[in-house]
Amino acid sequence: MFAAQRIGRRAFSASARDLSKVTVLGAAGGIGQPLSLLLKLNPNVTELGLYDIRGAPGVAADISHINTKSTVTGYDATPSGLASALKGADIVLIPAGVPRKPGMTRDDLFNTNASIVRDLAKACAENCPEAKVLVIANPVNSTLPILAEVYKARGVYNPKRLFGVTTLDVVRASRFVSELKGTDPAAENVTVVGGHSGVTIVPLFSQSNHPELSSNAELVNRVQFGGDEVVKAKDGAGSATLSMAMAGARMAESLLRASNGEKGVVEPSFVDSPLFKDQGIDYFSSKVELGPGGVEKVLPLGKLDANEEKLLEACLGDLKKNIEKGVAFVAANP
Ligand code: NAI
Repeated sequence: MFAAQRIGRRAFSASARDLSKVTVLGAAGGIGQPLSLLLKLNPNVTELGLYDIRGAPGVAADISHINTKSTVTGYDATPSGLASALKGADIVLIPAGVPRKPGMTRDDLFNTNASIVRDLAKACAENCPEAKVLVIANPVNSTLPILAEVYKARGVYNPKRLFGVTTLDVVRASRFVSELKGTDPAAENVTVVGGHSGVTIVPLFSQSNHPELSSNAELVNRVQFGGDEVVKAKDGAGSATLSMAMAGARMAESLLRASNGEKGVVEPSFVDSPLFKDQGIDYFSSKVELGPGGVEKVLPLGKLDANEEKLLEACLGDLKKNIEKGVAFVAANP
């Protein structure tokens, strides 16, 4: 009996894996290329669909020579190419959009990226409404609400399936702490909550291995503005791409593991969240337990110390405005 159950479960997980088509929109960009490479190396991905307004077939041809089992298809930059890239997708990652140049905030990208995300969201809602969609394009605080509004307007909204990717903030926090303390970053789990830009990024060091770091203003500032270090160093050539690709691939891998039945997979992400709805904030990033349907459970914030309470207050004000801006954009430009 036990053996039969085990075989049954194995058969189930094999068929679940068969369904793991992952599509990248913006696949030829600075993030898209290394992200696609990392997904090609992931044995849980069986089919990789690459779409961009330029260059996706070339990236696909290149990556397809890597000797892992998944198939790779690059799609033409046409509406039918986009539709084919999305049909049957289990997970869609969206790094399509312009990145920052020195001196820009993420909100400065809004005018260009809002319409890119809205149009790609329409294509997702039409061709793969059941897929989990991970928005990387900035400003994430506004692009996730844009995605959600497009889905709501089409009657296919399911809050469990749409994510704003904030994984890079957690990756950075863990690395910065490990540098400071001379520890292994794999052992430094820092919860980062709020949103994904400047003061909306709130690291909760009081809940980490080093609670005293919550009063280290320099470190807190580095986590909030770590992206600026990269923008400055790249000197006009863009923002974080390689570390972002790693963070996006990690988020996709966590979703695939949860889809395959693994329990207890937790990733912080920006989702439709109950935590601050009473203050009119519908989306918030916190630790999220993932399951086969996407969000299984939004975990509570836990205890914050006085420093973190102050950071949270500053976060909520900005975040609310960023969310409203995304919602208003879709209302005015459906
Ligand atoms: P990039 O300019 O190198 O690549 C963007 C790609 O998107 C290009 O290949 C472009 O052709 C493509 N694209 C533009 N419009 C498109 C459309 N309508 N459909 C399909 N593809 C389209 O930019 P990069 O560095 O890859 O950054 C992409 C986005 O990711 C930016 O908005 C950036 O701010 C954001 N980002 C987000 C992070 C996060 O933590 N969530 C971290 C770093 C960057």
